[in-house]
Amino acid sequence: MTEPILPRIRPEIAALAPYRQGKQAGPDAFKLSSNENPFDPLPSVTKALEGTTPINRYPDASAARLRERLAARYGVGLDEVHVASGSVAILYQLVQAAASVGDEVIYAWRSFEAYPGLVLVSGATAVQIPLIESDDLALTGRHDLDAMADAVTSRTRAIIVCTPNNPTGPIVTSAEFEAFVNRVPADCLIILDEAYAEFVRAQGAVDGLGERVFEKHPNVVVLRTFSKAYGLAGLRVGYAIGHAKVLDAARATAVPLSVTSAAEVAAIASLDAEGELLKRVAVIVERRGTLVEALRGQGWAVPDSQSNFVWLPTGERTDEIAGVFRDADIVVRPFSGDGIRISVGEHESVEKVLQVAQSVVAPLQGQK
Ligand SMILES: Cc1ncc(COP(=O)(O)O)c(C=O)c1O
Repeated sequence: MTEPILPRIRPEIAALAPYRQGKQAGPDAFKLSSNENPFDPLPSVTKALEGTTPINRYPDASAARLRERLAARYGVGLDEVHVASGSVAILYQLVQAAASVGDEVIYAWRSFEAYPGLVLVSGATAVQIPLIESDDLALTGRHDLDAMADAVTSRTRAIIVCTPNNPTGPIVTSAEFEAFVNRVPADCLIILDEAYAEFVRAQGAVDGLGERVFEKHPNVVVLRTFSKAYGLAGLRVGYAIGHAKVLDAARATAVPLSVTSAAEVAAIASLDAEGELLKRVAVIVERRGTLVEALRGQGWAVPDSQSNFVWLPTGERTDEIAGVFRDADIVVRPFSGDGIRISVGEHESVEKVLQVAQSVVAPLQGQK
């Protein structure tokens, strides 16, 4: 059979693997592969969804009600808030707005798996700076911000800083971030990706919104999401706080009307129920502590997670060990040759994760 003639695709896009989601879990499995919130939606949020715009109508393209709410919360103007269908959409918008062919975008690696693809789509060149590797568990898996600042050239247009870092878990401190921003040219965009901010308990961690870093440094945009702590991953809504002109550029590259009315309503209802949601976050933080302590006790070199997941440095045995988890009905996120990220999930999942981890740790002793 002859192959049909297909439309020509940009070669770098043709070579790019489509986004692969963490495996869907069977009915009895724990899905610990996508850093989702394990709790059921709050009844008040589900109820609020009944009051959304009829689905034959388009949503409010500017998501004005949610933006007003966030603007009041953070004491900023309406135009200093941007809302999109997930914070990943804002990452795409900002990188596309700032960087193109011949430009460079710097980020730490390993980090959020969407970064390489979104830089490639923009046409810019990715500059990946390895995370710190250390026997000291307080240091390993952290951003090497000095090396990131050293990598800035006249072609650098954007830098992404992920804190806490997905998938390793450690934070960037306020002092480190401030020193870093002061080394970066003021006309270079810095995206502070704080998707997991609500799970942070470490002293001295940077808090882009609490410290209002975007005010002191107009080249810094802070990203947050309703997907993790607020449990709205399925509705797709995230936001950015930053200088109005920078956010105008993101708005200009955005696909219009992609924040649905349901997402906007649920986000507002979640802000109304914040106290209740943050209690759930505290439960996840406690489970995280249990997991990290027990895994380290088993001999795993788990970095200091300040997020809703933990990182197992499984190296060359990653695929095999992910298979052992799968056989035990635990779906984790393996990164071949590197390690396994396990989300902090249901109460019952904690003991199961620890049992499997114990069963595979012995042959790893002595490896990194
Ligand atoms: C570091 C980081 N940033 C951004 C996102 C995107 O989240 P969302 O698009 O659901 O807001 C994720 C999701 O996993 C993430 O891990």
